[in-house]
Amino acid sequence: MDVNALRAETPGCAYRVHLNNAGAGLLAQPTLDAMTAHLRLEAETGGYEAAAAAQDTISAAYAGIAGLLGGRADEVALFDNATHAWNAAFYSVPLGPGDRILTGRAEYGSNVLAYWQVARRTGAEVVVVPNDCHGQLDTSALAGLVDERVKLIGVSHVPTSGGLVNPAAEIGRIARDARVLFLLDATQSVGQFPVDVNAIGCDLLTATGRKFLRGPRGTGFLWVAAAALERLDPFVAEIGSATWDGGRGFTWAGGARRFESWEKSYANIVGLGAAVRQALQLGAGAIGARTAMLGARLRGQLDALPGVSTHDLGQVRCAIVTARVEGVPAADVAAALGRAGVNVSTTVAEHSPLDTEDRAVHPLVRFSPHYYNTEGELDRAVGLVAAIAPKVRNR
Ligand SMILES: Cc1ncc(COP(=O)(O)O)c(C=O)c1O
Repeated sequence: MDVNALRAETPGCAYRVHLNNAGAGLLAQPTLDAMTAHLRLEAETGGYEAAAAAQDTISAAYAGIAGLLGGRADEVALFDNATHAWNAAFYSVPLGPGDRILTGRAEYGSNVLAYWQVARRTGAEVVVVPNDCHGQLDTSALAGLVDERVKLIGVSHVPTSGGLVNPAAEIGRIARDARVLFLLDATQSVGQFPVDVNAIGCDLLTATGRKFLRGPRGTGFLWVAAAALERLDPFVAEIGSATWDGGRGFTWAGGARRFESWEKSYANIVGLGAAVRQALQLGAGAIGARTAMLGARLRGQLDALPGVSTHDLGQVRCAIVTARVEGVPAADVAAALGRAGVNVSTTVAEHSPLDTEDRAVHPLVRFSPHYYNTEGELDRAVGLVAAIAPKVRNR
């Protein structure tokens, strides 16, 4: 991987040390160019006409996502964020009184709220699988909980709140053996390291465009296995997802398109397609090797600082690194880094409610490097944490 060349075609690298890729990755110049060209086409020829002219590029975006995940283009539906993609999947799972949803302690806040809402509405029950001694989902406990009542296993692959990588393939094996639908929230993992739906064995997978995939904000997608379609009842019928049958009924669109809305931002889709193309060209394996290396390096450096501790769980950890500076609020550390030109963010207790029940650690400072970050940038951030923290403390 030619990091210097990749940095040269990433405008943001000239201005900031961007360690907030779990928030939103920096757009590459080809992505920016593809989007602005499409917007110009819309302005000059009309929005519908521009979409028609860009049909091949738009189709290539679906195919690219499918290629990245190991699925088929007709198994991909596009959305304006990962939450809407996840909602389209989750709210389509038929549930009734006594049915069970199994989830993990790392589950994303919005997913947890949706589980509780649907449980209240339907009489289904939400069961939280405990973590094992490494702090990842306990797959033995999961296997013990799977029975005929369980209709869905919903798990976040990588949480918003730390570097944990949940054992997705082992969860998939358990789900497949039991023929239980498995919905994987891969929002923080797709684009960061290889995520293959066949190796994992999930039925549904959701992700966002703007984070480690480096696509534009306002993009997300759902992959749904063709074989799972008959087990789902799409939760919204509209002219994008279904067609009037001429009487008082309708037929669903083919494949995953039955989950989509009619209106879309085609400039965003073109941009997402360009970002996915870049990820495919670089290779998820190469990206994953570098992001894991940078994450481990940063975690080790921060842990070595007096008064600084990291808090990432799991046996396998990724490029998200969460840390606390003793006696200094996370927001103050993040703001001090920001003033020095280093972008980081902080974790939010409410965004990881089941993790918060276990660990009273949030908010933490969240660092999330990507492959285009350099070791020198990490050194700079670590130096700032070492030097800025005492200054913040003395204020
Ligand atoms: C694990 C996880 N799932 C889902 C989401 C929601 O993604 P989006 O903001 O694109 O809806 C996030 C966002 O941070 C996340 O970290």
